[in-house]
Amino acid sequence: MKDNRKIGIIDSGVGGLTVAKEFRRLLPKENVIYLGDNKNVPYGNKKEEEIYYLTKKMIDFLIQRDVKLIAVACNTISSILDRHFLDYTIPIVSIIKPVTDYVDKKRLKSVGVMATKFTIESKTYEKLLNEKDKSLTVVSESCPTLATIIDRGDYESKEIMETINIHMDNILRKTAVKDIILGCTHYPIVLEKFKKISPNINFINPAYEQTLYVDNIIKKLGISGSETNSTFEIFTTGKTGTYLDMIDSLSMKSADRIYEIKEF
Ligand code: SIN
Repeated sequence: MKDNRKIGIIDSGVGGLTVAKEFRRLLPKENVIYLGDNKNVPYGNKKEEEIYYLTKKMIDFLIQRDVKLIAVACNTISSILDRHFLDYTIPIVSIIKPVTDYVDKKRLKSVGVMATKFTIESKTYEKLLNEKDKSLTVVSESCPTLATIIDRGDYESKEIMETINIHMDNILRKTAVKDIILGCTHYPIVLEKFKKISPNINFINPAYEQTLYVDNIIKKLGISGSETNSTFEIFTTGKTGTYLDMIDSLSMKSADRIYEIKEF
């Protein structure tokens, strides 16, 4: 059975485009609809109640557009998924679970996680990773300003380099890990900067693992798409220009339409 309803992707801003890029590349027969809440970015410095409220609005917005699954392309939101949105009838897929499964398969002895304040304080990565392997050392670094700076779109700013530098220094001082999960979807946008500062580190981008994970789910449920001319639509509570710039700098297939939502 084929199902050409759309796959929804949600994020607090443009970071989820790193996931949308993998969806467009690896699942070309799927129609994709993206919603970024740039008006309220970052979620990572908010309280759980507010993250819940904003996320519910996003999920309901996409459900009204008849999506068959929602990929949560935001680590901060994924950190509250074990407690919320459990009664929806469509799958709502975390970005954290697929990447922790991947780390487990790699049998690493230690791993770093760089993420927002909320994600780190929730200890979701640590819990999921240590549930699978108690002896795995997980070193966490909270980066409270990095997502906001990246969402502004000025990738060449000195501020981005300086901020990454500080956090790389901090995390490597705690434990000399060789593998670091970029636990916020905004960070892979500036992956080259991370690599420039720490060329010997293997940075793990969860977007790829989440795409494979979703592919597995839709196959298992028999709801894979079969579009020959699949569509990619973007909705934002911010400005369309931010998305045009980001699509350009990620060298990804452009969107068919980008809409600004005035009232959200
Ligand atoms: C944020 O909204 O603070 C960043 C998104 C993420 O956590 O992946």
